Amino acid sequence: MEAVVDQLEQGLQDSLEHQAFRPLGLATGRTMEPLYAALVSRLSNWPTGRLTRLRQRWLSFNLDEYVGLAPEHPSSFSSFMGHHLVRPLGLNPAQVLLPDGAAADPHAAADRFAAEIHIAGGIGSQLLGLGSNGHVGFNEPPCGPDERCRVVRLSPATRSQNASSFQGSPALVPEEAITLGLHEILAAKELHLIVTGAPKAGILRKALDLDGDPEVPASWLRRHPKLWLWVDDAAWVEGGACTQNDYQ
Ligand code: GLP
Repeated sequence: MEAVVDQLEQGLQDSLEHQAFRPLGLATGRTMEPLYAALVSRLSNWPTGRLTRLRQRWLSFNLDEYVGLAPEHPSSFSSFMGHHLVRPLGLNPAQVLLPDGAAADPHAAADRFAAEIHIAGGIGSQLLGLGSNGHVGFNEPPCGPDERCRVVRLSPATRSQNASSFQGSPALVPEEAITLGLHEILAAKELHLIVTGAPKAGILRKALDLDGDPEVPASWLRRHPKLWLWVDDAAWVEGGACTQNDYQ
């Protein structure tokens, strides 16, 4: 995690120095918890003036949010961001944007979110975790590279994977979510796919070996010219066309 934080910190510092802050694309999930903890501890050591400038310039867009959960719901991704990033870094929540899962019309909310990203000039660095079924954001299989920000139905596998945030019960996990599509994800300037733990090794290997397969949405990421893969030893299995050195 320290290596990816090195890179993110450097990117933030450069963008502040060159007055060229591009919106960040942020992700949620257990993989991101240690990353945000490390990023917060790093940025908290910045000189006060620089940290203040970062807070002023900050603009980020999260990948996804559950449909039907208000931002203050304890299991919403909005609450996750509040807990792991907004409060520890002293950010203004209005500069940490997520799709409005509680909107009366979630389809319109998805369109609005995509438009806000467009108006902000698109995403600079996009963080991504990997779902156990190969999803990124909530782009569930099957999914092509041109899918846009939209409302999706969550698969039983995803609802089970995320049940730990809902008292361990997949039935309590909302059935739908708003997610950025692969279209918006692939339009980011650079992608950082972060994969940790042995249970993800198999799906990561598939994502790297397939050259764009709708059944493994993460496999489209290889088409991006600036994909960084940050993987721990447990999640790495040698094989196929790619070696660990291709990505680090
Ligand atoms: C969730 C999120 C993804 C996340 C992935 C992995 O469902 N929608 O954005 O990256 O699944 O989650 P975890 O890191 O908890 O394994």
